[in-house]
Amino acid sequence: MRIVLVGAGYVGLVSGACFADFGHVVTCVDNDAAKIDALRAGRIPIYEPGLDELVEKNLAEERLNFSTDLKAAMADAEAVFIAVGTPSRRGDGHADLSHVYTVAREIARSIDDFVVVATKSTVPVGTGDAVERIIRETNPDADFAVVSNPEFLREGAAITDFKRPDRIVIGTDDERARVVMGEVYRPLYLNQAPLLFTARRTSELIKYAANAFLAMKITFINEIADLCEATGADVQEVARGIGLDNRIGSKFLHAGPGYGGSCFPKDTQALVVTAQDAATPLRLVETTIAVNDTRKRAMARKVTAACGGKVLGKTIAVLGLTFKPNTDDMREAPAVSIVRALQDAGARVHAYDPAGMDQARQLLDDVVFAASAYDCAEGADALVIVTEWDAFRALDFKRLAEIMRGRIVVDLRNIYQPEEIERHGFVYASIGRTNAQSRSAYVLRETEAEEVPAGAAGE
Ligand code: UDX
Repeated sequence: MRIVLVGAGYVGLVSGACFADFGHVVTCVDNDAAKIDALRAGRIPIYEPGLDELVEKNLAEERLNFSTDLKAAMADAEAVFIAVGTPSRRGDGHADLSHVYTVAREIARSIDDFVVVATKSTVPVGTGDAVERIIRETNPDADFAVVSNPEFLREGAAITDFKRPDRIVIGTDDERARVVMGEVYRPLYLNQAPLLFTARRTSELIKYAANAFLAMKITFINEIADLCEATGADVQEVARGIGLDNRIGSKFLHAGPGYGGSCFPKDTQALVVTAQDAATPLRLVETTIAVNDTRKRAMARKVTAACGGKVLGKTIAVLGLTFKPNTDDMREAPAVSIVRALQDAGARVHAYDPAGMDQARQLLDDVVFAASAYDCAEGADALVIVTEWDAFRALDFKRLAEIMRGRIVVDLRNIYQPEEIERHGFVYASIGRTNAQSRSAYVLRETEAEEVPAGAAGE
């Protein structure tokens, strides 16, 4: 099959490379000529494990092409995917659909024979109708069907997620489009991935509902973590104890400094405003956003508390800056709020991240960027782990004890056991896990219902 992806960003590039790997002939189109030139030369603009090999292989086998010319790419194509960004619109939190609409017009002008126009970008419910209208107005003779096909891949695990999805959602009521989309995904279907055909609006909403639910699940366990800390319970065990219930599931119950990234923050926001406009406010999602926003800065207070209530003049070493490991993406990363809040409280911040420092430099001022974890920790009063990169999972605490000035470790991802670190003379603070001291601070007040005087019942 011949497939076109418009937008050689995260979703477009990963989807394009994977479709090509399944044997389709794919052209990724982008209007950024420099990006297309780089891609043709095998240079990948994003950090995603395995993507460079996949692009290189499929370029060499001539199944994957890059171009700035949409019209030429669309000749003979059976499906064209819109995979451009839908960032938050400044001011109101709605998804900004201007790129989607621009691409829809360009596609309209390039349609000769029947083609399926599938929206992979995350777009609010009703966008498919708008795209259809735009194409029809721009090219009244065009023969096409607009389909919703949301993408659920995660950064850092994008290729595996794309090739082994939990499900593929296709929103359309057009029979010809169903056949084409079935063909596009046939290789995955053979891999047992369920294809879920729905109406277009339903499919658009599935994507937002999924992301909002996951954001809510993380936020729920984060609040439970706070309660664990206050009452002497252990959030890791609570998460395991509830996660083993099949109705709940064990994934996305890892307490931490709050979710970030390019999807959850903007998608929850967009869903909330859509729901408000439809006069059906989603109060759980509204609260999730509010709780997560305050949590990021609250993490700086946690560091301050671990440092004895004051970080003024102290040097804090921050390990991990990206919103999660295996990406260089700094969008909405908790590290940004944490570093700024520590600086506001008078701390000097040293930082190290295996992939995110170029991006971080553009967002953070007055940070000393280090060449390694140990370089970062040198002379620091406290070490804070913000992102759980594998490289931080087996730090040499004997060495850290020699090079650091202080003996404080704050682990915001719970990647260590307290004993491993305390053994080296460190004071260790983590998320939702407590020590004997905090356990004794909370005692359940033993209250019993007062006896109801005889004859008072029912009055
Ligand atoms: C997410 C969705 O998972 C994906 O389906 C959608 O298409 C895009 O948004 P992504 O943003 O790449 O993917 O990352 P994800 O792995 O979901 O993590 C999001 C954030 O939640 C990160 O900041 C991560 O650290 C945090 N998180 C995740 C937790 O704090 N705890 C968890 O248990 C899981």
